[in-house]
Amino acid sequence: MGLRDFFIQLSENQLLNSSAQKYGLRLGAQSVVAGTNISEAMANIKQLNAKGISCTVDNLGEFVFDEAEATKAKEEILKVIEAIHNEGVDAHISLKPSQLGLDIDIDFCYDNLREIVEHASKYGIFVNFDMENYDRLQPSFDMLEELAKTFDNVGTVIQAYFFRAKEDIEKFKDFRLRIVKGAYKENASVAFQDQLEIDINFIKLIEYHLLNGKFTSIATHDHNIIEHVKRFVKDYNIPHDQFEFQMLYGFRKDLQLKLANEGYNFCVYVPYGKDWYGYFMRRLAERPQNLNLVTKQVFTKKTNTILAVAAGAFILGRLTKKKK
Ligand code: FDA
Repeated sequence: MGLRDFFIQLSENQLLNSSAQKYGLRLGAQSVVAGTNISEAMANIKQLNAKGISCTVDNLGEFVFDEAEATKAKEEILKVIEAIHNEGVDAHISLKPSQLGLDIDIDFCYDNLREIVEHASKYGIFVNFDMENYDRLQPSFDMLEELAKTFDNVGTVIQAYFFRAKEDIEKFKDFRLRIVKGAYKENASVAFQDQLEIDINFIKLIEYHLLNGKFTSIATHDHNIIEHVKRFVKDYNIPHDQFEFQMLYGFRKDLQLKLANEGYNFCVYVPYGKDWYGYFMRRLAERPQNLNLVTKQVFTKKTNTILAVAAGAFILGRLTKKKK
């Protein structure tokens, strides 16, 4: 098992997730999570806006299995929309359908999404549906399609590692889309496993949507892809207001600023909330070098406790699996 699988498994561990919530931002998560509440997130957004960078705000939330939790998440997102409007910041919403109840009941989830999208549309705020693992893909797309019949402030994500991504991007060609490589562990029957194949598909999808004339968010920290896109938009005279680069909060900050200063639209994905653990583990899975973030932190007693529990739960998980 590689480090990627190790961290993905940790990200899926509910026990660790709830333990981490008790301790607040730890293990270096404070470098990549913009606070645990709306006012901390807003303060960080204002700082980014001051540098000419727009934001997409994500209220972090994992393992939502009951309606009360999903309703709480919806209420929080409605408050974020109010905050964006009232404080006049340059930001929109990113959300995960699972947080709004997708794993509980699709109609319940749809109603939650509809309320959010409707509220955001009153203020002209865009809402992006983040895409999660393969099993949640089709139901998420279905809800998006249904909402798009009434609202024009919705868009989604196309994950380049899926074989079906080309088909999906053609279907959603009239939408504002964020294109990414893909963050979850997917089966070889549905997704490319080879990094080069993913990168090639990623570029094809970006080019397709850019040539399509629809707004494209190119979400990557990969400087080679970014350089390719810069050349491509120049060669094809694609106007700067038709696309943006996106990166995650706290990653490659120098490059973020450089691109914004070069005159490209730049948007930072700003996650905040107490439920930071799963998000943080997926970031470590993508790039274990981010472990530097962890090792650079002062290791408190509490931090060591989390790590010890993490290692214990992981080993236990492996042993239980072997027994089965
Ligand atoms: P990748 O991790 O493949 O790295 C490629 C190369 O870039 C590295 O080899 C290195 O040279 C350089 N590099 C990367 N990170 C670096 C760093 N921190 N410092 C220095 N060099 C670095 N996924 C998903 O499944 N659903 C979603 O909805 C989203 N949403 C989303 C929004 C935004 C704004 C971003 C940036 C990403 C997502 N993702 C996502 C995650 C995405 O699918 C993907 O897993 C990560 O972005 C990692 O892939 P990259 O393209 O960034 O580069």
